[in-house]
Amino acid sequence: MVQKILLTGGAGFIGSHTYVALKDAGYDAIILDNFSNARRNVTDRLEVITGAPVTCIEGDVLDEALLDRIFADHDIAAVIHFAALKAVGESVEKPLDYLNTNIAGLYALLRSMQRADLFTLVFSSSATVYGQPDELPVSEAAPRSFNNPYGFTKLACEQSLEQIAASDNRWTFGVLRYFNPVGAHDTGLIGEDPNDIPNNLMPYIAKVATDELEQLSVWGDDYDTPDGTGVRDYIHVIDLARGHVQSLDALLKSGKGHVVNLGTGTGYSVLEVLRAYERAAGRTLPYRIAPRRAGDVACVYGDTRLAKEILGFKAELGLDQMCASSWNWISRRKNT
Ligand code: UD1
Repeated sequence: MVQKILLTGGAGFIGSHTYVALKDAGYDAIILDNFSNARRNVTDRLEVITGAPVTCIEGDVLDEALLDRIFADHDIAAVIHFAALKAVGESVEKPLDYLNTNIAGLYALLRSMQRADLFTLVFSSSATVYGQPDELPVSEAAPRSFNNPYGFTKLACEQSLEQIAASDNRWTFGVLRYFNPVGAHDTGLIGEDPNDIPNNLMPYIAKVATDELEQLSVWGDDYDTPDGTGVRDYIHVIDLARGHVQSLDALLKSGKGHVVNLGTGTGYSVLEVLRAYERAAGRTLPYRIAPRRAGDVACVYGDTRLAKEILGFKAELGLDQMCASSWNWISRRKNT
């Protein structure tokens, strides 16, 4: 029997790619999204990509009555919970919004799942829970911390899930710690396209490449890294989406939870990403060296062994493919 999965935040960047990966893997999926950070045309585009109608319910994850109705109307086998706020700077300006959407949103979902007798959940966490790790690559056993409200919410959600799983063995959770998701679907129909000035590196570079932004500011070239700029573990969103399918497969098959890193295990500097994007876009891109961004860490990349061991997951796509797919998406988007 085809199993149906609910994707909260399924119209967003990672959610929409995961929707496609789930359908490809033989799952059925439905989306709940409030479109606070997603485009409405995403569902049409998902229909083009998958060749099948998309069920998308517009609403908020805090709306427990709506969640109850969804679980009553659909035979859901598991939930993947993407719906959350994710901008670090904004979380400092609006901490209560972040606490409410990210933490209270998770609790609302869990309460409703429990009423529906549904106990399998994949949770979107982040490598932000590691802060600046003492040891690299950073393993899942590394100490966790936070230095802004966004990071706090991810840690608080992880700890909440741990408490629940420890006290009630009906629950199984797959906690996925994403490194830096970038890139887009090969069709160029879905990708990341923030409405405002992007906070994250690759969407910013993409808008420099389309001349929507003048130049990249490289935040700091005096870090203790090979070229002095910050190093991160960028992962293609297509690989990341597949990681969710493998997490779900493992939860549904084994009934056992897991906490794993989803990254490539390789770190690239800001300037290496810029050069790779220049190759993809076929032009040089203007940049300037600017002061360090508050709260940034020098270098983070993940230990990928546990994901391989538990999920059989290994990222396959490299930096050039990440940049090429981003450019394919963003340059088409500009022309349509
Ligand atoms: C950021 C968040 C992290 C969150 C993640 C979500 C901060 C401090 N951290 O991670 O908590 O989980 O996004 O995707 O915001 N850079 C530039 N110029 C730019 C943008 C970025 O030089 O215009 C540099 C940064 O200094 C960093 C690297 O590029 O070295 C990657 O930055 P970014 O894409 O924002 O990701 P993180 O900082 O890793």
